[in-house]
Amino acid sequence: MRLLVTGGCGFIGSNFIRLVLEEHSEDEVLNLDKLTYAGNPENLRDVEGDPRYSFQQGDICDADDVGKAFAWNPDMVINFAAETHVDRSITSPEDFVKTDVLGTYRLLEQVREMGVRFMQISTDEVYGSISEGSFSEESPLQPNSPYAASKAGADLLVRSYVRTYGIDAVIARSSNNYGPYQYPEKVIPLFVTNLLEGRRVPLYGEGRNIRDWLYVRDNCRGLDLVLRSGQSGEAYNVGAGQEKTNLELTRAILEIMGKGEESIQNVPDRLGHDLRYSVETSKIKALGWSPRMDFESGLQRTVQWYRDHAAWWEPIKSGEFRRYYAEKYGDI
Ligand code: NAD
Ligand code: DAU
Repeated sequence: MRLLVTGGCGFIGSNFIRLVLEEHSEDEVLNLDKLTYAGNPENLRDVEGDPRYSFQQGDICDADDVGKAFAWNPDMVINFAAETHVDRSITSPEDFVKTDVLGTYRLLEQVREMGVRFMQISTDEVYGSISEGSFSEESPLQPNSPYAASKAGADLLVRSYVRTYGIDAVIARSSNNYGPYQYPEKVIPLFVTNLLEGRRVPLYGEGRNIRDWLYVRDNCRGLDLVLRSGQSGEAYNVGAGQEKTNLELTRAILEIMGKGEESIQNVPDRLGHDLRYSVETSKIKALGWSPRMDFESGLQRTVQWYRDHAAWWEPIKSGEFRRYYAEKYGDI
């Protein structure tokens, strides 16, 4: 199979490409990535020499860049490329609308023309917040942040292209991922690297919000399965069933790192902050997937990865990130 992967230099995309190259010896991958602040070629340095892997720098919103990538003749296209950080979508939504909606549209147009299979990497956030129970794939989309709304817009476009033009497409909606190579603006790598730097961790509000933590390798196995076995026109939730409040998560990180509660800095809450995400996963389980990593082991492993890879995250935190972060909190 020839897989065109967009956004492969980000966190999940790079883990996905590594998994495909390891587990499917016949597959070839072309990675189309704009290299925004979140895209980092270092994430794939170890596979760069693999003859089955190639890279094209380009923007999924640009018809020429997309056309060039499709000229490689992929069998399947997997769209990870997106603006992904909820806080940034609250302060500057425009790039989210552009990449997450218009970019998906550009890809869909080429998919329609070339008749290849398409997979949209969506998120559990498109359903909005749920205080009890879990969302199924049939639940209405009720996004609450500009990020989630842009992702929901893309999902609806995919649905419309299946219904209207008969394209072959699936959607995956995953819960919060964690693990190696996650950009340190997201809560787990932010908190772990702050503690390694001797800083405090900025906990929003009272830390009551709940997220379901899914180890990135487990997510990538699920996405790979949906890509190859999912039914066209269907969406598949991917979740680990490992829900934690942010305070529980923070305390677990502090304990692993031998730090006390004085390292917590309570900061003003995120605007429109969704209380809880939770997805029902019987549909992907029926395809034969289940998560393997329990939260405690996954968190230990993740903390150790950031301890061992300061050379990966230190340059990020001293660059664009430091300016972004200083604007938010000063120097905590
Ligand atoms: P990320 O921010 O780490 O990486 C995004 C990648 O997309 C970067 O390499 C970036 O350079 C690239 N990109 C951005 N705009 C682009 C454009 N216009 N053209 C080409 N490339 C572009 O993101 P992530 O956390 O790895 O998320 C990947 C996908 O998974 C996203 O679609 C996101 O919505 C979805 N998702 C993420 C999570 C999570 O917990 N991280 C959970 C569910 C779904
Ligand atoms: O649910 C899937 C989504 O998970 C993905 O679609 C998004 O791309 C990804 O960014 C993530 O969104 P969240 O907003 O849930 O992740 P984030 O790491 O930004 O925040 C997780 C929780 O931690 C959230 O309730 C806000 C809180 N938080 C976050 C940061 C960055 C803090 O308390 N302090 C922080 O500094």
